[in-house]
Amino acid sequence: MKVLLVNGGPHKDGCTNLALEEVAKILNQENIETEIIWLGTKPVGGCIGCNHCIKTNNRCFMDDKVNEFLDKVEAADGFVFGSPVHFASASGNLTSFLDRVFYGRGKMFAGKLCASVVSCRRGGASSTFDQLNKYALISNMFIVGSSYWNQIHGTNREEAMQDLEGLQTMRNLGRNMAYMLKCIEEAKNKNIKKPEYESTVKTNFIR
Ligand SMILES: Cc1cc2nc3c(=O)[nH]c(=O)nc-3n(C[C@H](O)[C@H](O)[C@H](O)COP(=O)(O)O)c2cc1C
Repeated sequence: MKVLLVNGGPHKDGCTNLALEEVAKILNQENIETEIIWLGTKPVGGCIGCNHCIKTNNRCFMDDKVNEFLDKVEAADGFVFGSPVHFASASGNLTSFLDRVFYGRGKMFAGKLCASVVSCRRGGASSTFDQLNKYALISNMFIVGSSYWNQIHGTNREEAMQDLEGLQTMRNLGRNMAYMLKCIEEAKNKNIKKPEYESTVKTNFIR
């Protein structure tokens, strides 16, 4: 079993990464493989709605971190998307990344686990958390929670390390995710099938 964790912040070893490391630590203790992927500081382009990905084989015409990530999705059972709060929202890079990762790709993610974690100095954690969870909630994914909303506070790693409740929240998230991954694995052994979905009825309220 494998979980991919994405650090969508500009700091490779900042607060967001600390939160992701804490989740990964518990997953590793539970014998679940993890990989933390940092999006870096170069701009990630946003989705231009060209539908190339839908018309072709699911790859984005912009060949960058999005396609690199998509190559890893099939082998992964769970995902954790992490972002610093930037003006009460996710970072621009992570928003662009997730728009392009999830656009038209619900089937790729359906039935897998997802969690979001956010880091901020003071405010905007809840709105950012809501924003990130929406990608999973429209993709038939199962969202994993914790003992608090998945947030950690600080302006840098050293400060975030002092947020003991935030760190504990991350560890409990790891425990919940490990448990749910094992339940899904056990369901496979017992031949309990994941839901099969109807083909989507698309309405746009003008007809
Ligand atoms: C452009 C920008 C906007 C920010 N906006 C907020 C904000 O709305 N609320 C907040 O509490 N912190 C805000 N911060 C601070 C970061 O969210 C906070 O320091 C975060 O924990 C940094 O995470 P990182 O080390 O992973 O980058 C902002 C930082 C930047 C660079």
